[in-house]
This record gives sequence, C-alpha cells and structure tokens, in this order.
Amino acid sequence: MTSRDTTGHSAGDPGSVESWLVSAGRDRRPGSPLNVPPCPASNFVLGERRAYSRDDGTPGWEALEEIVGGLEGGSSVSFASGMAGIAAIFDQLPIGSVVALPDDCYQGVAGLAAAGQARGRWTVHRIDVADTARWIDMCGVADLIWLESPSNPLLAVADLDVICAAPRKPGAILGVDNTFATPLNQRPLVLGADVAVQSVTKFIGGHSDLLGGVVTVRDANLLASLRQSRELAGATPGSLETFLAVRGVRTLAVRLERAQNNAMTLAERLARHPNVALTRYPGLASHPTHEAARRQLKGFGTIISFDVRGDAPGRRRRVRRTATYPTRHQPRCGRVHHRTAGQHSWAGAPASGAAAAERGYRGRRGPLDRSGSCAAQRAGSVVLDAQPWD
Ligand SMILES: Cc1ncc(COP(=O)(O)O)c(C=O)c1O
Repeated sequence: MTSRDTTGHSAGDPGSVESWLVSAGRDRRPGSPLNVPPCPASNFVLGERRAYSRDDGTPGWEALEEIVGGLEGGSSVSFASGMAGIAAIFDQLPIGSVVALPDDCYQGVAGLAAAGQARGRWTVHRIDVADTARWIDMCGVADLIWLESPSNPLLAVADLDVICAAPRKPGAILGVDNTFATPLNQRPLVLGADVAVQSVTKFIGGHSDLLGGVVTVRDANLLASLRQSRELAGATPGSLETFLAVRGVRTLAVRLERAQNNAMTLAERLARHPNVALTRYPGLASHPTHEAARRQLKGFGTIISFDVRGDAPGRRRRVRRTATYPTRHQPRCGRVHHRTAGQHSWAGAPASGAAAAERGYRGRRGPLDRSGSCAAQRAGSVVLDAQPWD
C-alpha cells in the first residue's frame, strides 16, 4: 500500500523506535481513519486487488505485517498464531529433510517436529542451545536450522551471531523464534538468519486477548512461498486479532522497557530468596548463557523461570500463593505460569529441559513420566512474565 510509510525502523534512524511504532502501518491518505479499522470481510467487489480475504488479505493484516516487518528488518507474513507461522516454515521442507532443533524450545515446536518425523517427513536432531560448534556443523547438513533464543522455558541464549554467519547447505533455511527477545532486543535477520518468527500472542499483542503470529523473511521467493502455505492451509489471522495486535504493538517499546526493569529486580530478589532453589534469567551473571545474552541482546527480556524448594505439596502451595494468574500451560503473556498442575505434552515430544538439566540449566531433575514430561518440572518450576500490562 503506497499510501503507507513502509520503511522500517533501523538502529541508525534519527527518530526513536517509540515514535516509529506509533506512526507505522497507517493509511496516510487525507480523510483515512487514523487507525486501520477491523475489516471483517471475506469477499470484496471484484475489479480491485482484493477479491477474497484468505487469498488477498485485509488492510489490518497488511498494517501488522508492515509494522513487524519494519521492526525485524524484512518482509512479513501474518498468521493465525505463532504455531501456524512455524508450521508454514516446516511446510517448506522437502520430504527426507534434516531438521536441527534446540534441546530446549517451545513444546509446540518440539511436538510439530516430532509429529513430522513420526510421519517420515523429516529427521530431527536435538542440539544443546549452547553447543555452538555442533550448530555450526549442522548448518552444513541440515535443511532447517531452527533456533529459539532466549528459549522457552530455560531462557538459554544461542550464539546467534556466530551460527547465523556459518556456511549453510544450499537451500537451507535458518529460522529464529524471536518471540522472547522481541525485535526491539534482537534482530536475527540482520545477523544473517533467513526467517524471524514472532508469536504475536505474546509481546506484540501484549494484552492476552488474541492469538497471532508473524513470520519475517529477507528472500522474495520464501516470502511468496510462505504466503502460499498460509493461503492453502487457511492459516490466516482474524480481522479483530490483527486490529488488536496493531493496537498492542504501538506500546511495545514502553511496555518492554518497564517489564525488563521489573524482571531484573525480580530475578535478583528471587536469586536471593531462601525458598528458591534456582533462578534462570539471562540478565543474571549466574545464567549459563549470560555472556551470549550480554553480547547480543539489547535487553534481557521479561521472562524469568525458577525452581521452588521443598516437597511437592509445599511447592504447590507456595506457587499458588504467588500466582496472580496461574495457568496450566506454557508461558504466555501474563503474570505467573507454573507447572504444579501439569503441562502440555505431545506424544513423542522429548521433555523440554530434561536434557538441559544434565548440563546444569536446571537445579535438579526428576524422573520422566510416560508423556515425557519432567516430573520435577511439573512439580516445582515456575515461569514468571514480568510484563505488567494485562
Ligand atoms: C517461544 C514461543 N514460540 C512460539 C509459540 C507459539 O505461539 P502461539 O501460541 O501464538 O501459537 C509460543 C507459545 O507459547 C512460544 O512461547
């Protein structure tokens, strides 16, 4: 849409990212609504560029894509959720591909990778986030190198600068789930990644009232192919959701700044707390990947995870007392997410964090239950999101 300011924001720009965020993605023609209104239309009168919204999009999707694309430094495709966007990336892989996946990553992605492997679509290699030499080796052989940095839930930070610069197998895709960092703290495309993903459900939306995803790329062919995957799978975002996401992202910079400051204070307090066995926050010098975080991240993010001391019932009681909004699931945008009551698990998905436990990311490790979940993780591990805006 030529009437919009489609230039992205980059580090050297004279204006602040805060100002850019409030003005980006708007239709600047005189008389246009200041905010792109929700457009709940499936069909459009023929003759202009839009006929059917699953194929041709809506003004709201385009506004969101312009804003997130501008932040990440590429061209974006919006999806119904973060997982829908990630599934579209996996959809690019030819049968028989090799996938390199972190040993700690969002369980939905581990589940997607495991399900595809079980159907014979690809082979998955789980790699220690901090084992940079192994990632570099995998860049030469894998068709999809998938990184999540910081990771969910152990907040491990990969040496993205080094891994993104390593030579890749021709045609390979290197993707980074940038959700926990946000594009304000880290821009994987600038480091050389092919794909950056945001679960818009989290910080971009910012208010726990929508599901959405945005995938941003540098290559025009990959962009077209992702759009085609979205169209054929019908993985399109809703009009109301994109409207809310655009409203949410306008305040991303101020929310993030406040929440990161809060997170640092909370992490330091938790690290000293007698009832806490282990606190994980990339901003703490005690975090195993603190050095990589200092080098690469502008801010350490808003998520903390920690293990509560004591027997299982005591831990559960303490966590319940702490939790303002307890959920049973993986961290989402909110306050406190604990694992006392259970967690998502997908058949065949290895326990997130269990392998990392052996290398010291976790304070202790419990036996694996039948679903592959780590019992200690289920019993006493807490993920805290310091974002104060919902
Ligand atoms: C790091 C990360 N990536 C991707 C996702 C999936 O996003 P969505 O829930 O929007 O599908 C999540 C969800 O929690 C996540 O934490």
